[in-house]
Amino acid sequence: MILQPKNPNNRLSAEHALFVGSSGSGKTTGVKQVGVINATDQVALFDPYLDYEALCGREIRRYTSLAAFARALFSARATKTGRGFKIAYSPKDGANAKNLEAFSRVIWGAGDGNHKKPLKVVFEELAKCVTTSGAARGAFGEILTGGRKFGIHAICIFQRGQEVPKTVMGQCSIKWVGKQQREQDAVYLAREIGLPVDKIIALPKFHYLMKTDDHNIGQFDEGKLRKLAA
Ligand SMILES: Nc1ncnc2c1ncn2[C@@H]1O[C@H](COP(=O)(O)OP(=O)(O)OP(=O)(O)O)[C@@H](O)[C@H]1O
Ligand SMILES: [Mg+2]
Repeated sequence: MILQPKNPNNRLSAEHALFVGSSGSGKTTGVKQVGVINATDQVALFDPYLDYEALCGREIRRYTSLAAFARALFSARATKTGRGFKIAYSPKDGANAKNLEAFSRVIWGAGDGNHKKPLKVVFEELAKCVTTSGAARGAFGEILTGGRKFGIHAICIFQRGQEVPKTVMGQCSIKWVGKQQREQDAVYLAREIGLPVDKIIALPKFHYLMKTDDHNIGQFDEGKLRKLAA
């Protein structure tokens, strides 16, 4: 049985985000730093390689069992005060399509358009977990296309644009682009995201371009990450 989210709310805005860059370019650091996640947020993480010890100064509660993760998530979401939390699922057998889908089903069921706070969901190692670069399928696809109405904000992290479903590029209103290893990857992202290819090619490690719905065509922000303690 697939749990269904509650209270569809069309007034909620689309706030999915993507972080794309070569290994070590600063994606995980960027997620912690550029304001998509704050200390008091309710956050669930698919974190197969234990990339997060803490998040915005808050400890992570980590589970290797999906059932235990789901219990912790649903009980934290049920708290009336809407207190923040950071809860991770780190499956023992790592990043794969089966684990992403099982995690996504739990997340989908925790969506609630009338909840005090959105549920922010970090998807690390997305490319290892998807089997298509066409449309995103299953519960993960549902989250991308329908999560907005239920207050679910997906944060998708991957190394190369070509490796993930086109739905990810299409549905993420916040786009963070870090250093690329190969020119053809930069060209792909420039076309899909609408950023100048020369700017992407010139990015050093820990520098990024970021584009949100507030930017008009041709506009974007440029920035550099700080080194974080944890
Ligand atoms: N501005 C910075 N200066 C120096 N080191 C940094 C800076 N930002 C991040 N780092 C460090 O560089 C390493 C790589 O950064 P990070 O883990 O964010 O990259 P990533 O893109 O997520 O890599 P991966 O693809 O392997 O997950 C980390 O150890 C991080 O602490
Ligand atoms: Mg990382």
